[in-house]
Amino acid sequence: MTSGSLPETALHHEGKATFALGAAFYRPQSVIARDLAMLAAAVYRQRHGRLQVLDAMTGCGVRPLRYVLEAGADWVWANEGNPDLAKVLQANLAVLPAATYRLTHQDANRVFFSCYQQRDFYDLVDIDNFGSPAPYVSNGLWATKLGGMLYLTSTDGRATSGHDPERSLKTYGAWARSHPAAHEQGLRLLIGHAAQTAAARGLGIEPVFSLFTGQVHRVMVRLVSKPTLSDATYGFVAYCHGCGHFQTVDWRHLGRVNCLCRAQDAAVLSGPMWLGPLHDGATLEAMQALATDWGWRRQGKLLAIMTQEIDLPPYYYSLGEIGRRGQMDIPNRDRLIAALHAQGHRAVVPSMDWQGIKTDAAFGDCVSIAKQFPFL
Ligand SMILES: C[S@@+](CC[C@H](N)C(=O)[O-])C[C@H]1O[C@@H](n2cnc3c(N)ncnc32)[C@H](O)[C@@H]1O
Ligand SMILES: [Zn+2]
Repeated sequence: MTSGSLPETALHHEGKATFALGAAFYRPQSVIARDLAMLAAAVYRQRHGRLQVLDAMTGCGVRPLRYVLEAGADWVWANEGNPDLAKVLQANLAVLPAATYRLTHQDANRVFFSCYQQRDFYDLVDIDNFGSPAPYVSNGLWATKLGGMLYLTSTDGRATSGHDPERSLKTYGAWARSHPAAHEQGLRLLIGHAAQTAAARGLGIEPVFSLFTGQVHRVMVRLVSKPTLSDATYGFVAYCHGCGHFQTVDWRHLGRVNCLCRAQDAAVLSGPMWLGPLHDGATLEAMQALATDWGWRRQGKLLAIMTQEIDLPPYYYSLGEIGRRGQMDIPNRDRLIAALHAQGHRAVVPSMDWQGIKTDAAFGDCVSIAKQFPFL
């Protein structure tokens, strides 16, 4: 498959898609985000017998190509705000049957409003913006079918990592602090924002999967008819600067945050953010089965790691922090996990930081166990 009359050297390949870039933005490193989206979309197609996708910020068109060629989408609306990309996109998408796609060049929010006005709702709305997704989440919901999915992106690491809490306040309505589990915090702020936006309309969202790839936070959420926001799923995470321990704090106990170490005023609060599961286990299982069928080993391995963390606390401990607080070398991750299991704790590798551990043990217990390593 080639794109129009472009020379082979100008073409890029990803999955089953072949495309030219022209002046379009394309990050080959984000392939895992597109791979997981294809798996989730294909699972949706299997379950519902149809798949209509709105790719609101398509860039070079790699996603619409892959949604049709790999996930079996019946119809894709590819939209790209920059009209200068019209020619390259027309050439790239020309390989698809004419009855399977539409290409437009409008502002994404205009597209969402027009979908709502036409009662033209989508099974999957993909919003791959630069920076914060906040300007698009609310309107993107208007274009999503009930039971359908919304794929959200944040590249705004300064706000989600706690390095600019004023900005996270404006974007997410949450005060994000800096702490060692900031990569997970980014996912939880994003889901929390979507859950709160949906709840304000009497709707809910459930995370399908959540992905942090080193720079970009992404979440695929399902739109459901009942609000999923509650005191249990949307609240605060406290980090103690005195001892390194984390805990969750609900709205009713905001004024009474005490750490296990009893240090006064050492715990700082981040939030509100999503405290529920980051992924849907049944969908991850179906995605993993498909990854095996398609021979996608790397993706299958990541999905297995995500599955293990589903019902563990909404934070993790970094190995570097365990080493620093214990005044020792950074402990071996797998050895620490095995030692925690031996003591009856649950412990896994967090999908968003492979140099950490996610466990139901207290931070201080992890330090004590790691300190014993030279004597074990
Ligand atoms: C991150 S790139 C998309 C990359 C593409 N989805 C991929 O996977 O390779 C974001 C694209 O959205 C376009 N864009 C930015 N703001 C937009 C808006 N408000 N409406 C429509 N398109 C927009 C940009 O021109 C850019 O091509
Ligand atoms: Zn403490």
